[in-house]
Amino acid sequence: MKSWVLGLAMAGLAGAVAAQAQSPAQVVQERREGLRRMGAHMEAMQQIAQTRGDPRPAVQRLDDMVAFFGTGFVQRFPAGTQQGTAGLETRALPAIWGDLPAFERAQQGTTQALTALRTAAASGDAAAFQAAFQNAGQSCGVCHRPFRAPAR
Ligand code: HEC
Repeated sequence: MKSWVLGLAMAGLAGAVAAQAQSPAQVVQERREGLRRMGAHMEAMQQIAQTRGDPRPAVQRLDDMVAFFGTGFVQRFPAGTQQGTAGLETRALPAIWGDLPAFERAQQGTTQALTALRTAAASGDAAAFQAAFQNAGQSCGVCHRPFRAPAR
């Protein structure tokens, strides 16, 4: 009778343990994979923006982007995963942990810009999409300039 309660509790515990067991290298690998996927979304949408094509097919990409940046993004940057840590291939600058509020503000700015871009995409208005795409792209730079090391 109570076994399913116990089962749920144990599943929850297993989940918590699994989350803790993620090594810094795995955390970095996952966040970089996610960010590369975000970059691919932006490239695909740039085509639409430049040609003023029908933006409605971009809605699905934007759902993925709003979820990625809007939910748990900052948690992908736990202490100890900055550039310069032995064994880690990352461009995350130590400045992130020196000013977490600014990092969070940049994350929120991008989430808002992407939400507005999703609205424009769903409306089917190509000009509105083009303008909102510019804004979204600029919001990425607001975080990258202070918090991401240049590529080598
Ligand atoms: C709040 C901060 C923040 C925002 C907002 C942000 N990024 Fe980044 N991004 C980073 C950091 C930090 C890294 C470096 C991550 C690492 O190397 O561990 C990065 C890395 C990347 C990478 C390189 C991934 C790789 O390692 O190959 C891409 C692509 C990328 N971001 C795309 C975007 C796009 C597109 C946007 C806007 C839609 C965006 N980012 C918004 C912080 C941010």
